[in-house]
Amino acid sequence: MALLEIEKLDVFYGKAQSLHGVDLNVEAGKIVGIIGPNGAGKSTLLDTVLGLTTRKGSVRFDGRDLAKIAPAKVVSLGIGYAPERGNLFPFMGVRENLLVGAYNARDKIDENLRMVFDLFPVLEARQSQETHTQSGGERQMVSLGRALMTSPKLLLVDEPTIGLAPKVCLDIAAALKKLNEKMGLTIVITEQNVNFAMSLAQEIHLLETGRIRLSGTPDELMKETHIKETYFGA
Ligand SMILES: Nc1ncnc2c1ncn2[C@@H]1O[C@H](COP(=O)(O)OP(=O)(O)OP(=O)(O)O)[C@@H](O)[C@H]1O
Ligand SMILES: [Mg+2]
Repeated sequence: MALLEIEKLDVFYGKAQSLHGVDLNVEAGKIVGIIGPNGAGKSTLLDTVLGLTTRKGSVRFDGRDLAKIAPAKVVSLGIGYAPERGNLFPFMGVRENLLVGAYNARDKIDENLRMVFDLFPVLEARQSQETHTQSGGERQMVSLGRALMTSPKLLLVDEPTIGLAPKVCLDIAAALKKLNEKMGLTIVITEQNVNFAMSLAQEIHLLETGRIRLSGTPDELMKETHIKETYFGA
């Protein structure tokens, strides 16, 4: 049984359909990348796992059907979410933003703060800094940290490299790799940055106009003409 099992997923915003029959299994211990252009449905897919959209089809986590489970409860079951552009509280400090994530894991606050600060030392030195004064990279670290404060088994990360310099992207990649390899965290990451996703994930799915168009290892997808032409201009 996969940790996350998505089957025949259709998602609607009013009458408009944004995901069409998406099937996706995420095995425990893996990093899975979802790549695709603007508007493909990447954020919609992650929002749907949290229970934030109207859907048909099934989403199962750890064998449990997530239908009718409220988003806050989904997080408590073990799914951490770092949404697109972080969605931080701009006029609250780094530490306060991190503590927002800890609502369901209050007994682990010290342990989880230690883990986040070990992963991103720059945050430990700036705990009281309001996040609107931080760099984009630091804010992304707070967003990932806040998701980690929920003690997740599965981490969903929506486009963590958007607008970040290459060096910061490498730092984010290193942190995600460490979480996966050292702590066994299962990660689903969406990216328009195909190189970033390919360098990190063991398995890639290409989402286009709400449908999974191609799936495979990074090596397999790199050989696909459609990927070469559309995403690498070759
Ligand atoms: N709240 C919403 N109401 C109506 N339509 C929406 C809503 N959110 C997303 N959509 C539509 O659903 C489709 C998928 O959007 P989504 O944000 O999931 O794409 P994405 O792959 O995350 O794109 P990007 O890379 O730009 O973040 C788009 O056509 C978008 O306009
Ligand atoms: Mg998006």
